[in-house]
Amino acid sequence: MTDLADSLNLTIRDVTPQDEVAIRDLIVAAFPSDMESRLVYKLRHCGAMVLEQVAVDENGEIAGHVAYSRVTPAAIGHGQGMQIACLAPVSVWPDKQRRGIGSALIRTSLKRLTEIGEDLVLVLGPPSYFPRFGFDPALARKVRGPYAGAAFMALALTADGTRDLPIEVAFATPFEEFE
Ligand SMILES: CC(C)(COP(=O)(O)OP(=O)(O)OC[C@H]1O[C@@H](n2cnc3c(N)ncnc32)[C@H](O)[C@@H]1OP(=O)(O)O)[C@@H](O)C(=O)NCCC(=O)NCCS
Repeated sequence: MTDLADSLNLTIRDVTPQDEVAIRDLIVAAFPSDMESRLVYKLRHCGAMVLEQVAVDENGEIAGHVAYSRVTPAAIGHGQGMQIACLAPVSVWPDKQRRGIGSALIRTSLKRLTEIGEDLVLVLGPPSYFPRFGFDPALARKVRGPYAGAAFMALALTADGTRDLPIEVAFATPFEEFE
């Protein structure tokens, strides 16, 4: 757990099957449509999920959720040993946003990803938000796939996360709806 999570009285932990309804309600509330909620459902059911965590507040309620799914190096040879994950989606209940919950959840989950051996994390999100966690659009330009532009950012968690770049990648099949 990060100091930020402690200072906000948040418990950040892995998702359990009992959390699924509360997570669906949260994601539907945070995004304009149910696309992201359906994405999470599909990622779980196709076995692509690498890590899913929730932030639980002092009342025991799920205030935030983040999902990371497997990204596969597409080219034979280059970067084959790299462990790459995609952060998507991340959400905080609208009435609890801008209090640091999203930051605590992202920082804690990135630490967990490092512990479980992930090398590189990709995200497609607001360029005003993700660089504070170290995500960098310049690094993502070395990752070729369906996404490009300022909103596509990458964060290396290990030296291997930069060593084998440039690389071509494929996202889990449920992302095809977003391409
Ligand atoms: C993005 C999100 C998870 C951030 O969670 P949060 O708990 O509100 O974030 P924090 O309190 O840790 O950080 C607040 C900062 O994030 C910024 N921020 C929040 N949402 C943002 C967005 N959609 N775009 C850009 N910046 C955003 C705020 O302006 C604030 O910036 P500041 O620190 O410079 O004032 C949350 O706002 C959310 O659920 N948004 C809707 C879903 C979404 O757009 N997810 C991201 C794409 S997957």
